[in-house]
Amino acid sequence: MQNHKRPPASLIFIFGGSGDLNLRKLTPALYNLFLDEWMPEKFGIVGIGRSDYSDETYRGHLLEGIKKFSRRKEEVDHQWNGFAQHVSYLQMDAENDASYAKISDFVKAKEQEYGEHPNVIFYLAVAPQLVPDIASKLGPLNICADTKCTRIVVEKPFGHDLKSAQEINHLLSTMFDENQIFRIDHYLGKETVQNILALRFANALFEPIWNRNYIENVQITASETVGAESRGAYYEKSGALRDMVQNHILQLMCMIGMEAPVSFDANEIRNKKVDVLNAIRKIDHSEVQDYAVRGQYSEGWMQGEKVTGYRGEKNVDPHSNVETFAALKFYIDNWRWQDVPFYVRTGKRMHSKSTFITIQFRPAPNYAFPPEAANSWRPNRLTIGIQPEMDIRLRFQAKRPGQNLILSPVDMTFNYDAYDEHEPEAYETLLLDVMEGNATLFMRADQVEAAWKIIMPIQETWETRQPVDFPNYAPGSWGPEDAEALIARDGFNWVTLNTPEGA
Ligand code: BG6
Repeated sequence: MQNHKRPPASLIFIFGGSGDLNLRKLTPALYNLFLDEWMPEKFGIVGIGRSDYSDETYRGHLLEGIKKFSRRKEEVDHQWNGFAQHVSYLQMDAENDASYAKISDFVKAKEQEYGEHPNVIFYLAVAPQLVPDIASKLGPLNICADTKCTRIVVEKPFGHDLKSAQEINHLLSTMFDENQIFRIDHYLGKETVQNILALRFANALFEPIWNRNYIENVQITASETVGAESRGAYYEKSGALRDMVQNHILQLMCMIGMEAPVSFDANEIRNKKVDVLNAIRKIDHSEVQDYAVRGQYSEGWMQGEKVTGYRGEKNVDPHSNVETFAALKFYIDNWRWQDVPFYVRTGKRMHSKSTFITIQFRPAPNYAFPPEAANSWRPNRLTIGIQPEMDIRLRFQAKRPGQNLILSPVDMTFNYDAYDEHEPEAYETLLLDVMEGNATLFMRADQVEAAWKIIMPIQETWETRQPVDFPNYAPGSWGPEDAEALIARDGFNWVTLNTPEGA
């Protein structure tokens, strides 16, 4: 039986209700919340789209999605009917002003039925170019003036550069209060990402050494094995820098780099993060080649299967210069981090699907052991596995058993197997937060803009100077050689989890 407080009555309107994001992520997440008794006592989910569905056929479509994509596929049947009766479909043309009256009518009818005014949540799971138009049509609806109960959820990408992000922020601000706007970065909903705050600020152990005096460098890798898949058209306008670095990776950097919050108030946490973004050293256009490397995958082989190069993917220009890999070096100019390099890299069609952060500590200041004791000596390292391994590992030296004095690195590991509970998916956490009105894990307007300011010089330089060596990395590799050179110049190398001796 549930022993937690459910969120207040909520109506969730999903624009893009017949789209992929809803099928793969949103509905499975809402259904899991339902199974765990986290959905409100009174709730309604309304898919909005142009496709022709009845409520019945729409529910059938969503059920197929859950059977395919939910983390709890096997539990589908037993409570599905209970959930499905809350789901309906509204066929409407989102470009037509008049059809928005249908939404107001629906809300009024539900208000009567519930006997109370519910939260009204507009989830914009649509192509980014449609966001301004839908938002401006929602704005004038009476319900949107209710700043306490009405919320709008906007997916990434939030703009395609600083200027467009500022324009969307401005537009939204003319119709909604900032506390009504929930800009999603799904990385922030990941269990392991949230755990970074617990690791750092619920332990007295790490904070005293979490600074430039003890930390030599920080690395963030977010590698994927998939290629552009069916998203060629989107990816052509995006590329790795916009798709992953501007949002997910910079957010991970904020979690590692931020100062201790004085409370868990949403604005306090976001203030501390925005401080990090503002302190990241801006890379001058003329220095981009010293700080950033881009790559694009060629055709080749992955796990015995022939895969096409990026330029051969569907909806991709055969001469495309869009990057599918990016590696960058950042510095955070403040007392805590001055001169500690943060190396980040991300790419498609790489060696493995893994996202992890490593904090590499400085070598011990003095080393009295005889040289033969320490052939495999390595500095201390903390690794935070975000996915698929979800763990935290601390590497230190230990004496190998035996008469000889030989030291070697060992790992002390925390992993989620220690718990009986299953980790919720990021979208479960985030949707629950939207219903509860908790914006801590969402991006504030100034955060999004600060992140764009960091990216813009790199983006602009890459757009004006075409790469000469694309495609420059093979599928299944760790990216282009230049990425190795970027870090090797400083005397380090990329940590890869399957070669723990690598550093
Ligand atoms: C999305 C990007 O934001 O994140 C995708 O648009 C990427 O290109 C995805 O594949 C990665 O998310 P995750 O949770 O699988 O690491």
